[in-house]
Parts: sequence; structure tokens; C-alpha cells
Amino acid sequence: MSYIISKETKDPNYKCGSPFHGDKIFIDIILKKLQESEYFVETGTAYGDTLKFVNDNFKNIRAISCEPDDNRYEIVTNFIPGAEIVKITSPEIFTYIKENHSDSFSKKTIFWLDAHGEYNGKVFWPLREEVDFIKKNYKDYCILIDDFKNPYNSQFKFDMVGNIPCSIEYIHDLVQDVNVYYPNYTELTTESWHDLIGWVLITNENFQDDRMILHK
Ligand SMILES: C[S@@+](CC[C@H](N)C(=O)[O-])C[C@H]1O[C@@H](n2cnc3c(N)ncnc32)[C@H](O)[C@@H]1O
Repeated sequence: MSYIISKETKDPNYKCGSPFHGDKIFIDIILKKLQESEYFVETGTAYGDTLKFVNDNFKNIRAISCEPDDNRYEIVTNFIPGAEIVKITSPEIFTYIKENHSDSFSKKTIFWLDAHGEYNGKVFWPLREEVDFIKKNYKDYCILIDDFKNPYNSQFKFDMVGNIPCSIEYIHDLVQDVNVYYPNYTELTTESWHDLIGWVLITNENFQDDRMILHK
């Protein structure tokens, strides 16, 4: 499938949109999942680069995202009127979904968990609650976590949340019974970033792509 990456962005740090960091291999790997999914749920919209990409290219998908920052929320809501952006934090977004979109629990859903880091000057990291909720409620899910440490390739940069690395150790007990896949490519295909940024795919399905390694 061909897709468009918008040249327009509201992010003051970039000159063009950079969904999934603008990493074209990442996008290529998850394209089929996006085509098959009925819901896209993102935590941390920021300026909507990834959300705009999903909204522009996948008419099959209902996109829901949350952004608590007043300024970003206002900008992004005007930028992507077709998406459902809620001005709340994660994990509150999951209460919102339970109340308004519980039908998604039985539909193929792709998650982009990107809300780790600081919010309001405090370290706030809802990752465990997010993963736990998804696993307990969704039948058919693909969880993508951004800024995740890759144990197979140290070229991929990852975030520290406080003094804890964004890595499998933090959620290990929650994902023992599902499949965890790491990217194993090395080419930098983004026009916006100087580095490969780490990510991980966690799913209750088997995922076949030779650019990904199944974690044992
Ligand atoms: C890295 S940016 C998101 C980029 C965006 N997901 C994309 O791919 O284009 C992270 C955003 O998460 C927001 N954020 C931080 N903590 C949050 C939380 N607990 N819930 C929701 N959003 C949060 C921040 O305000 C910031 O705008």
C-alpha cells in the first residue's frame, strides 16, 4: 500500500510530519496491522504527527488519543478534526474508552503507547497500567511502545523515566505469556531524526516479519 506523510506539522521542532519518528521501515512493518485494525489508541498525542498519519491513510480505523497539555491539545484538535482527541492523561484514557468505546474490546486494535516521561514537572509513567488494562480487556491487540530499549541492537535509542530505563524489565511479569518482538534492522530511513529510536511490538498473535526478532 502507498501512503502519505504530511509535509505539514504543528511541532515547532520539525519541518515536516514524522509519524513513528518518520522511520519508514517501522511504518512498512506495521502497515498491514494498521490496514487490518478497526481502532488505533494512542497515549500522548503531542502535535499529532503519528495521529495525522493514521487519520490520513487508514479510513478503516477509528483513532482515539489523549493529550493533557492545554496548548498542545488545542493545537492538535484544530489540526486533526477527524480524530477523537481527549484532554486527559493516560491511564484515564482507558476509563474513557471503557465508558465510550467498549465495542473496541472485541475488535482488532493497535496501541501506540507514548505517554511516558514527565508531565507537569513530575515523573509519570503509566506503562504498567496501560499494558495490564489492554491484556485484561482486549481480545486482539498489537501494542507498540515507543522509546523502548532494544536488547539486540544498541543502535536504537531509548528513554529513561526518572532513573528507570523504558525496557522489558519494567513490564516483564505482565508480558510473559504473549509475544514480544524487537526490530532488528539497522538502516536509518527518517528525514526528521538523527538516530534510530527504539520500539517494541507486544501481541497475543504470531507476527511474521524477518525484520523483527521474537524475544525469548
Ligand atoms: C513524545 S510526545 C508524543 C508524540 C506522539 N505520540 C507522536 O507519535 O506523534 C509525548 C506526549 O505525551 C504527553 N504526556 C505525558 N504524560 C502523559 C500522560 N500520562 N498521559 C497522556 N499524555 C501524556 C506529553 O504532554 C507529550 O505531548
